[in-house]
Order: sequence, then structure tokens, then C-alpha cells
Amino acid sequence: MTAPKGYSARQIRLHWIVTAIIILQFLLHEPMSEAWDLVEDGQTPGFHWLVLSHVIGGVLVLIFALWRLVLRQTRGVPPPPVGEPPHLARAAHLGHLALYALMIAMPLSGMAAWFGGIEAAAEAHELMKIALLALVAVHVLAALWHQFWLRDGLLLRMKHPQD
Ligand code: HEM
Ligand code: HEM
Repeated sequence: MTAPKGYSARQIRLHWIVTAIIILQFLLHEPMSEAWDLVEDGQTPGFHWLVLSHVIGGVLVLIFALWRLVLRQTRGVPPPPVGEPPHLARAAHLGHLALYALMIAMPLSGMAAWFGGIEAAAEAHELMKIALLALVAVHVLAALWHQFWLRDGLLLRMKHPQD
């Protein structure tokens, strides 16, 4: 399979939909955290639509992450930007794989906590939250560095589809 020049429209849509869901997961987690505190105290939390949306949003991230990995395999992804030193290209590749790992492990740990009552899974969920935040921060800074310092138009790869 020869590498495509850019991402497909579907890959780009999935990237931004997942980004939006993850931002909402972070901004609106409070009712879920409160419900979990009640569960830990042996109580049964009442219905809250934001708890339900946390579960649905998280499961969607999982499904979309798996879908994106399938697309990576079947359609491929563009090669590193021209002139990127090999060690940075490798770092970017590993960073992307780590983001995929967290987009899978976070929902799984959340489900194990919420549906399985496993406290260690909730602790893992909280630790992974920090790892995801840190990785996304580096990811965004790297994208902005490419765009505004190196001026290689990297951001456009996640805007305009290319075959
Ligand atoms: C990528 C998807 C997800 C993200 C980004 C995410 C994010 C978060 C965040 C930021 C918190 C607050 C943690 C804290 O209090 O410090 C949280 C808590 C929680 N989430 Fe998620 N979540 C995701 C998926 C899920 C799923 C699918 C479930 C369950 C089906 C779930 C269940 C929980 C539970 C039970 C808590 C409270 C326990 C705790 O604080 O660790 N999460 N989540
Ligand atoms: C929750 C937030 C985010 C996550 C989890 C995430 C995840 C990812 C992943 C996994 C890839 C690699 C796609 C692949 O090759 O399979 C990627 C690519 C990319 N992301 Fe993000 N992203 C997020 C937010 C952002 C934001 C806010 C920006 C813009 C500032 C951005 C800009 C880009 C760009 C430009 C690429 C293409 C990089 C390249 O072609 O080498 N991402 N993102």
C-alpha cells in the first residue's frame, strides 16, 4: 500500500469529533465524579443526564478510536512532513500511538469502574486523565509549532482531505 498524501475526509471528521467529545468529557465530568463518590460510599446515585452522557461520550471515543485504527491500517496515513528529522517523526508516531492507547484504555477503565465497581479501575481512570491531558497539550503545541514556527502547513493536513 502506498501512503496517501493526506488524511481522508472521514479521518479528519473523526479526529475533530473525538477531540470535541474528549473536551466535553473533561469539562462536564463533575456529575460523574459525584455519582462515583456516592457509589464508593455504598449509596445508589440517582439519574443524571450528564452521567449518562459521560458514559455514552466515552463509549463513542472508544468506538471511533478503533475505527480510526482500522482506517490507519486499510487506507493509511500521510508520511511525516517533508524535512522532518527522523527522531521527531518517530516521536510524533509514538505520541499518536500513545493517544490511541489512551483513547481505548480510558473508556475501558471507566466502564470497569462504573459497571464492574472496580475501584482500582477508577484510580487508573484518574491517572490516565492526567496522561491524556499532558499528551494532548504536547500534541497541540507540536501542531502549533509546525504551523506557526516551521510554517509547513501541518494543521491543513487535518483540515483539507487529500488522496
Ligand atoms: C475517553 C473517554 C473518557 C474521558 C476523557 C473521561 C474523562 C473523565 C474525567 C476527566 C473524569 C474526572 C476524574 C477526576 O475526578 O479527577 C472522569 C471520571 C469518571 N469517569 Fe470518565 N472519561 C471517559 C470515559 C468514561 C467511560 C466510558 C466511563 C464509564 C462507562 C467513565 C466513567 C467514569 C467514572 C466512574 C468516573 C469517576 C471516577 C473517577 O473519578 O475516576 N468514563 N472521567
Ligand atoms: C483530544 C484531543 C486530541 C486528540 C486525542 C488527538 C489525536 C490525534 C491523533 C491520534 C493523531 C494521529 C492520526 C493518525 O495519523 O492516525 C492526530 C493528528 C493530528 N492532530 Fe490531533 N488530537 C487532538 C487534538 C488536536 C488539536 C486541538 C489539534 C490542533 C491544534 C490537532 C492537530 C492535529 C494535526 C495537525 C494532526 C496531523 C498530524 C500529522 O499529519 O502528522 N489535534 N491527532
